[in-house]
Amino acid sequence: METIKIHDKSFQILIPETVIMERVKSLAETLNVIYEGKTLHIICVLNGSFIFTADLVRYLTMPMEIHFVRVSTYGNERVSSGSTREVWGLDSLNISQKSVLIAEDIIDTGFTLEFLRQKIDALRPESIETITFLFKPESFKGTKRPEYTGFNIPDDFVVGYGMDYAQMGRELRAIYQLYED
Ligand code: IMP
Ligand code: MG
Repeated sequence: METIKIHDKSFQILIPETVIMERVKSLAETLNVIYEGKTLHIICVLNGSFIFTADLVRYLTMPMEIHFVRVSTYGNERVSSGSTREVWGLDSLNISQKSVLIAEDIIDTGFTLEFLRQKIDALRPESIETITFLFKPESFKGTKRPEYTGFNIPDDFVVGYGMDYAQMGRELRAIYQLYED
């Protein structure tokens, strides 16, 4: 199987581009039914979810606003840190009494999402739901699972479709998994 090299590591394909695009379309179809008649306030969690959000919103049919936040973490290499610290971009969010959808690239332990949800809750939206492109059920330690998931994946490190390994690999059209021999 084709492997690619990023920094010092080898990766092999896990989810091909065509499969990704079909899934993104079907997620959008679900949301189009559920949020019909509402204005959706999508919160794209930078950096990783910029590509997923960009693809998803172009298949959505309801009126929407798209917002961007960034959650800072310690240690942004291979291991996702449990100690999330700060959210940028919340001050300019006007989501009181609005329907909010948080768009994440990947939920691993769930700590990032838990932290962010608390902050967004405090802004008193009418509703909050979460969509994540990838979910790692085996490493999830949070209390609230995402309402919508693109793919459940094993507890292995992945890159591509917005996600990075030490800032590289975000541009890849497929999802690649760390390959260790
Ligand atoms: P959590 O707080 O453990 O759920 O981690 C969430 C964040 O860690 C994600 O938004 C990613 O930025 C990063 N992350 C977790 N797993 C991976 C991975 O396999 N590849 C790239 N980034 C990851
Ligand atoms: Mg993320």
